Amino acid sequence: MAQWKKIGVLENFKDGSKWEVIINKRRIALFLYKNKYYAIKNSCLHQGYPLTEGSCSDNMIECPLHGWVYDFTTGKCLSLNNKSTATFKVREKNNNLEIKI
Ligand code: FES
Repeated sequence: MAQWKKIGVLENFKDGSKWEVIINKRRIALFLYKNKYYAIKNSCLHQGYPLTEGSCSDNMIECPLHGWVYDFTTGKCLSLNNKSTATFKVREKNNNLEIKI
């Protein structure tokens, strides 16, 4: 069953727009966009490259290896029809950031 996992104090996730966090050996890509946090699996559906190494444009992240693009607010892969990567809920609690996994 999924549980909320603390990933750190909120202050550590204010400068910048993307981070990799590892929870239970799972690589998660965390994004800050318009004052809201989003989390998806940090592994491209194509060949598993870490998406956090790509560049963001609005709510999209582009995999630097071959250019597949994802909407990190929904997990949808915009380079494929009807394919999505895993998404995770994110919340702020007691000045910490938590991800449900
Ligand atoms: S590994 Fe991401 S597009 Fe190929």
